Amino acid sequence: MKIGIISAMKEEIQAILNVLEVRKKSTKGMRTYFEGTLFGKEVVIVFSRWGKVASATTVTQLLNDFKIQEIIFTGVAGAIQPEVSIGDIIIGEELYQHDLDGSPLVDTYEVPLLGLRSFTTNHENRIKLKRACEDFFDHIHNYLDHDKLVQFKISKPNIHIGAIASGDQFISRKEQISSILSGLPQVKCVEMEGAAVAQVCYEYNIPYSIIRTISDNANQNAHVDFPKFAHEVASIYARAVLENYLKV
Ligand code: ADE
Repeated sequence: MKIGIISAMKEEIQAILNVLEVRKKSTKGMRTYFEGTLFGKEVVIVFSRWGKVASATTVTQLLNDFKIQEIIFTGVAGAIQPEVSIGDIIIGEELYQHDLDGSPLVDTYEVPLLGLRSFTTNHENRIKLKRACEDFFDHIHNYLDHDKLVQFKISKPNIHIGAIASGDQFISRKEQISSILSGLPQVKCVEMEGAAVAQVCYEYNIPYSIIRTISDNANQNAHVDFPKFAHEVASIYARAVLENYLKV
């Protein structure tokens, strides 16, 4: 059983690479694939870069060149619901492309020829991930000190399982959020890769999970909060959750 682990951010991949027992490293199409053992499991780790094209090409290469049986995409996202706060974790259930609109030929959001408006992640893996996140939050003070949590206003972080919308836009304005929510009112957070990875995995019939830590509120502060958060918090989250998930 070999698991492919992808993130769009260098910071998160670096935190995971720091604990990977690397066996082999190969570079193709400007991406570096690290094969090795992570918390006792065989994995291939890669940093995809941002956006749907970058992540779709990376996951395709990963599935074609390495014998991968499961994909986990981990990263940060912007919250677009009032009950979702910075420091919360979203485990993707349905993945939508909020910028895909072939209407009137097909429905808005529908992926042509697949006839699907969203992709659904594997139920069992969602439950396993939720347990891994709960275990992490129960021991969060072992990973992040009090000052850091206060600095990022993280007090009682929550885990949500729900819809995620991906698109090739960094969301930072009210009008963008209203436009996404007018068509997809159930979406909890926005990011730029999850649905692209989900579509490729669906087409290759490989189970996949998308897990996102909320770094910002998709508002005018989003671009300020986001890089610092990815570096100082999200990378710690990703490593801890993967440790709990892979050790099971
Ligand atoms: N990833 C993290 N925050 C984001 C935002 N506000 N928009 C799109 N992708 C993001």
